Amino acid sequence: MIFIDINQERVPVLGLGTFSLKGQACRTSVTDAISIGYRHIDTAKMYDNEEDVGHGIKDAAIDRDDLFVTTKIWHTDLTQSGITAGLEDSLQKLQLDYVNLTLIHWPSDDMNLKECLETLMELQQQSKTRLIGVSNFPASLVKEARAIAPVICNQVEYHPYLRQSSVLNVVREHGMMLTAYCPIAKGEVLQDQNLIDLGEKYGKSPTQITLRWLVQQENVAAIPKASSHEHRAENLDIFDFSLTDEEMNHIHSLSKNHRLINPEFAPVWDD
Ligand SMILES: NC(=O)c1ccc[n+]([C@@H]2O[C@H](COP(=O)([O-])OP(=O)(O)OC[C@H]3O[C@@H](n4cnc5c(N)ncnc54)[C@H](OP(=O)(O)O)[C@@H]3O)[C@@H](O)[C@H]2O)c1
Repeated sequence: MIFIDINQERVPVLGLGTFSLKGQACRTSVTDAISIGYRHIDTAKMYDNEEDVGHGIKDAAIDRDDLFVTTKIWHTDLTQSGITAGLEDSLQKLQLDYVNLTLIHWPSDDMNLKECLETLMELQQQSKTRLIGVSNFPASLVKEARAIAPVICNQVEYHPYLRQSSVLNVVREHGMMLTAYCPIAKGEVLQDQNLIDLGEKYGKSPTQITLRWLVQQENVAAIPKASSHEHRAENLDIFDFSLTDEEMNHIHSLSKNHRLINPEFAPVWDD
């Protein structure tokens, strides 16, 4: 495993996404993931699975300090009381004293960004969250947030078909990290002949080539969701090879502004 060192926390570059995993399947997925070496789990209040994730963590019987857990505050809860109650509720459901990272899940036109971030800082002071960050923030809004608070992460859709260069630039300028969601474009990379060809060279699947491409980039983490043991194991098996600069650039060149997640409340995107 490779780690990103940020504000005295070590963030494992590969985590398990849990959106749409629920009930026993979620619980088993989390326990299995930890048993095979995952140390980073991504959830959110909106996924309605924090209790299952919490049970999965408990069943894995891992030392809490060895696990990096992220949760998120939904965009309709972005008030001082909404954020505070939201994180308390998440901690209770997860059966944890703290999470490692709390994110604003989506920006909202109605939010008072300063108040939201000051509330998150207060929760950080109270040791309920080790780090604070944002998700789905365009570059200009990341800059605004960073001028108010030490946000360390922007979690955004990022895969070979969506460039995200503005967000990557601003994140790196501020010593932050980018966590890539939909990192394998919900499975679309599997059919890509460029990635299939590269995979043949290394004895890896297109999924593994894509995940390697992501985590080989400075301060980028990826959180593929996988509901089967085979997929989870495959996605973790990316640390025994590396791509050349030319291959990295070749995968960058596949970008075609293809965005998979774009709800009606999404902000205006950069690129
Ligand atoms: N912040 C946000 O707004 C936001 C938005 C979307 C997602 N996320 C987070 O990002 C995570 C990942 O995104 P995502 O779930 O949308 O997309 P994804 O990880 O790109 O793709 C998941 C899909 O790929 C399949 N898959 C996984 N590993 C595979 C493998 N090795 N071979 C073949 N297929 C494989 C999964 O199938 P199986 O399940 O059958 O294995 C699933 O259908 C989410 O779970 C969530 O935690 C955050």
